[in-house]
Parts: sequence; C-alpha cells; structure tokens
Amino acid sequence: MSCVVIVGMQWGDEGKGKVVDYYAGKADIVVRFSGGNNAGHTVVVKGKRYAFHLMPCGALRGKQLIIGNGVVVDPKVLLEEMEMLKRDGITPKLLISERAHVIFPYHRALDEAEEQFKGKRKAGTTKRGIGPCYEDKAGRFGLRICDIIHREILKEKIDHLFPLKEKQIQIYGGRFDFSKEQLLQEYDAYGEKLKDYVCDANLELNNAIDGGKKVLFEGTQGTMLDIDHGMYPVGTSCNVTAGAACTGSGVSPTKIDEVIGLTKAYVSRVGVGPLPTELLDETGEYIRKKGAEFGVTTGRPRRVGWLDIPALRYACRINGVSGLAITKLDVLAGLEKVKICTSYSIGKKTTSEVPPSCELLEQCKPFYKEMKGWQEFEEGKAEEVARKGFGVLPKELKDYVSEISKLSGAPAYLISIGPGREETIVLKNVFEK
Ligand code: GDP
Ligand code: IMO
Ligand code: MG
Repeated sequence: MSCVVIVGMQWGDEGKGKVVDYYAGKADIVVRFSGGNNAGHTVVVKGKRYAFHLMPCGALRGKQLIIGNGVVVDPKVLLEEMEMLKRDGITPKLLISERAHVIFPYHRALDEAEEQFKGKRKAGTTKRGIGPCYEDKAGRFGLRICDIIHREILKEKIDHLFPLKEKQIQIYGGRFDFSKEQLLQEYDAYGEKLKDYVCDANLELNNAIDGGKKVLFEGTQGTMLDIDHGMYPVGTSCNVTAGAACTGSGVSPTKIDEVIGLTKAYVSRVGVGPLPTELLDETGEYIRKKGAEFGVTTGRPRRVGWLDIPALRYACRINGVSGLAITKLDVLAGLEKVKICTSYSIGKKTTSEVPPSCELLEQCKPFYKEMKGWQEFEEGKAEEVARKGFGVLPKELKDYVSEISKLSGAPAYLISIGPGREETIVLKNVFEK
C-alpha cells in the first residue's frame, strides 16, 4: 500500500492529529489537502502536546511534509508554526504548493462581518477567514502562493482588489481598518520568507508516488462539515471528504489504496447546527470534561453526544472507507451503560439515512441500542495495556468496537485509548501489504 487517506467521519476533532502522527511513523510523506487554520490537530508525544493548524502532522516524525493546492494558507500562522517547531529543534521538511490560495486580513474581517450579517443563520465559524478565502477562490478573485512570492504580481493584484474588499466589508457593516501599503509590505515579507519552500507540489508528489514512496493524506474537519455532503450551511467552505485528497493535491483517484475513517467513540461538535444525539445532561458534562472537549483553535466548549451510526454509515459510504480508526474509547470508560444511535424517527417515519438539511436533521429523534460500559484503565496504565494488545481489553469495550464495525460495515484498523502516541492499538498497519 502506498497512498492512504485519513478523513474525519463526524463533525471534526475525531483525533486526526494523533492518528496521522501514528501512521506517519510508517510513511514517507504527509500531505495536507484541505481546509486551513480552522483545523486544530493535536499530537501528544511523551506527555508534550503540540497543536498544529497548517503544518502536516508528520512534522514530529521528520517526514517530508506537503501543503497541497487545496489548502488555504495564512502565511503568518504557518510561519509561527515553523518557528514553534524550530524552538524544539525541529526543522520541518516542508513543501508548499504554488497553487494554494492565501488568506489575507480582509478575509478574516469578512468572515466576522458575514457571520454577523447571517445572525441566527450563522455557522459559528472559527473566524480565521477560511470561508471568504474559498469564496475568492471560486469567484476567481483569489491570490495564490505563486502570486505572493512575486512582488510586482502581488502589488498589481492587491491594487485591483483592495477597493472591492473595502466595499464588501462595508456592505456587511464590518470594520475595515488596515492600509493597503501595510498589507503589501506584510505579504511581501511573507513571500520572501516562504519562497524557498514553494514548488510544483503535485509534480513532486506524483514523482515520489511513482518512485514507491508511502504517502499519508491528512484530512481536516469531518464529513458532516463538508461543503457538499455535510450539514449545509453550518459546515465549512470546502470539500473535506476523501475525494478532496485527490483534487487538493493533484493525485489521481487511481493512486489511492486505502481510506481510513476516523471516529470518536461518541460524537462532538464545536459550533452551531443540529446534533441529534447531543447530551445536555450530566453524562454529557462527564464526557466533555473527561475527554477535554474544548476547541484547539478557538477554545470553545464542544457539544458532545452518543455515537451516531446513521451519520457514520453515511460517512463510510461518501468516503469509501476501508477501515475505521476509533478514538477516545478511554473517555467512555467508567460509565455503567453506553448508547449507540442506530436510526432516527422523523415524524411518523423511521430512517437510518442522514437527511439533507438542518431543518430535517433537527427533527430527527434517535433510537438507541444500549450496551454495557467498561471499567476504567488503571491510572497511567493505558500505554501498557496498548502494548499488550487488543486481547487484554475489557470484554465490554471489545463488544462495543465490534458493534460499531458491524453497524457501520467497516472493520476497525486502529483503536485509541488515550491522547499519547503509544496509547494506540493497531489492528491493521495500512502501509504493509
Ligand atoms: P483533530 O482535529 O481530529 O486532530 O482532533 P483534535 O486534536 O482537535 O481533538 C482531539 C483531542 O482528543 C485532542 O486533545 C487529542 O489529544 C485527544 N485524543 C485523541 N485521541 C484520544 C484518545 O483516544 N483518548 C483521549 N482521552 N484523548 C484523545
Ligand atoms: P479539525 O480539522 C471542528 C467548524 C466551525 C464551524 C464550521 C465553519 O480540527 O477537525 P470555518 O471556520 O471552517 O468556516 O467554520 O466548521 N469547524 C470545525 N469544527 N474541527 C475543525 O477542524 C473545524 N473546522 C471548522 O466550528 O461550525
Ligand atoms: Mg481539531
């Protein structure tokens, strides 16, 4: 196997950082293909916690890293992440696609202003300018990495665009308080700092694949936030499902060997919109606290709920998932009973499919299957348990994993019982034949 895609099955934050870092140990290259610094991916190694927003999560493994054309890049954030790594003695081996779009301060101002204008119809965005940057990409107003590394091109395009952005922000009643000269100076400096990393990334990547290199594609967000397949309009502004690994990196679908779907043992959601299995009681509070469910990017508390099988089956189908990575099984430990939503009732009907709109999903009431909970691992012993393997896990936990596989139709490839790199049990190593 040489090309493996890892994507979120839920509303993001499934543990992509942890699992990508884990499998990156066996890969040669890690590629980001979607989203921007709305993503917050956590990797914990020997108790030290790293939060990445743009840097692919193979950074701590010293692997070749690629930011593909599908990513929207805030240069300031990327440079800060490079600095953060350098302070820890790590020089990331990074290549940035010349075709990736760039986030400007007016995108962040527009993000804020559009959300305000939408009022109760807002998505609760991360306000990082992601949506407006993808809007400019689709509208053919965008500037790309290849533009900011050429001073004259940057100036010419910004000269043309600046008055329009000023008007747009004013229409929404937002604040526009930066000067064109300042912006040009700032982005020219970013271009200078980044230009040595910029290349024809899809050429490099395809050559590497043809040469037998093993590539991991690191998804962002989750299927339920995808612009087409997620809960429109409260999701994100680009495709984040498996197909985006191809369009966002310039690699053909014929080259992808496996798609790993990531799911928590429950669900979480940061931001607004329907969440049929949401727990608003003390069990929800218990899970949020124990699972440290607070946004990596914005610090917002995440809403939590029981595992939602209709959503998981839907995500398996959309992504063509070959296997699942199931995280945060330790968080549910200690509960007497756990529940899995197997289908919904909507009006007088029962359905196990995800409806297309927020209005309909809002009406869905979950039917649950109840299962026995499992005991806590002894404090600090999760790593030892993981080393011993799946066999030593509590029977109830193993039953829960089997039930998820049975109901979703996808085998478990990896299970995670703690945030640390070693608190992981691999049932299938995807880079081995
Ligand atoms: P991502 O956006 O999908 O990369 O996920 P985040 O990093 O935003 O959120 C996942 C959180 O759960 C992070 O704080 C991880 O360190 C943590 N995490 C990942 N896997 C596990 C696990 O199996 N158990 C526990 N307790 N925490 C985990
Ligand atoms: P990772 O990669 C969780 C959510 C926001 C909001 C909606 C749109 O860490 O899983 P945006 O800023 O993209 O325009 O916001 O999507 N959202 C995420 N939620 N994890 C993420 O990324 C997210 N990225 C965006 O909360 O509801
Ligand atoms: Mg996250």
